[in-house]
Amino acid sequence: MPGLYRLLRPLLFRAPPETAHRFAITALKSGLCPVAAQPLEPPLQVNLYGLMFPNPLGVAAGFDKDIEAPDALLRLGFGFVEVGSITPLPQPGNPKPRLFRLEADRALINRLGFNSAGHANAVSRLRSRGGRPGIIGVNIGANKESSDIVADYVQGLSCFNDIASYIAINISSPNTPGLRSLQSKAELRHLLERIGEARSELHRPKPLLLKIAPDLSDAELDDIAGLVIAHSIDGVIVSNTTVSRPALKSPRASEPGGLSGAPLFELSTRKLARLYQLTSGRLPLIGVGGVTCAETAWQKLRAGASLIQLYSALVYEGPSLARTICAGLAERLATSAKKSISEITGTGVSDWL
Ligand SMILES: Cc1cc2nc3c(=O)[nH]c(=O)nc-3n(C[C@H](O)[C@H](O)[C@H](O)COP(=O)(O)O)c2cc1C
Repeated sequence: MPGLYRLLRPLLFRAPPETAHRFAITALKSGLCPVAAQPLEPPLQVNLYGLMFPNPLGVAAGFDKDIEAPDALLRLGFGFVEVGSITPLPQPGNPKPRLFRLEADRALINRLGFNSAGHANAVSRLRSRGGRPGIIGVNIGANKESSDIVADYVQGLSCFNDIASYIAINISSPNTPGLRSLQSKAELRHLLERIGEARSELHRPKPLLLKIAPDLSDAELDDIAGLVIAHSIDGVIVSNTTVSRPALKSPRASEPGGLSGAPLFELSTRKLARLYQLTSGRLPLIGVGGVTCAETAWQKLRAGASLIQLYSALVYEGPSLARTICAGLAERLATSAKKSISEITGTGVSDWL
């Protein structure tokens, strides 16, 4: 299959990135993609939040925003899928073009701006799965025209609590005005207080994670660490795309928006390790940003991740990537002195500080 995707990729890359993405989702939905035939190696299992992740590698938010193909993505060999971001009301997002390939950098820039079919559509899609097995996290966002952004998150929490495996609060998209300021100390405290009140009324609250930007300073990370612990948040996803621009080769490098893919690896992994240190390894972290192969996935685990996610590398490497990475992780684990993925988490934090 890697060979087949390599043949197909030049054709796909002739189409605008959003058209190619639509094609990928359609192919997944119609079962045109390969199926992970054998169950993946048991040592890759991660037991977290009372959920048994078959392996630590998930699909990051944004790939399947409207829950069109979560089961097909699981069949590719991913251990879990995070769908969304989903906004309360449907909204179109920013004008096109708003997604760009930076091929020479193995990166993407997007300024989609939360194009979403909305909560009601997502609820019916999730319900139509009919309780099929598989871990599906729901990533919630806010509408661009919302008069009370915090209320949008509270609404997302109540809406998806019963049907999501976990909920991720995305306050780090660079493409919705005012959103990232929710990461500041005062605004985050207010958000977490209101979320806390809403959660206390839920019968069985699901694990709740916060997704943050890689562009935060160490001081800002320190504030976030204190607040998430104080408000009993169950984990942090590090990180979303960056508005910074490390040295890039592609002509599209200065397009406004969030940069993802290989050039994000170093920045997002440093922030991950820093947050692991600030929380003394007590808080589960999901490491995302520039994972492209087994080695980068392994490094994320060593830098403090309990689980890993990717998006951009799927565009460049194709549908066999999950299985390739999982096979590489299983090999590394077998040659290490450890017995499980969870024992790898945090073993290389000092390399990144
Ligand atoms: C086209 C695109 C759309 C995205 N949409 C979302 C989104 O809706 N919500 C979110 O939390 N992250 C979104 N992300 C960020 C990814 O989930 C991930 O954090 C980021 O791309 C870094 O991972 P990567 O380097 O493996 O791509 C998006 C990324 C891309 C490339």
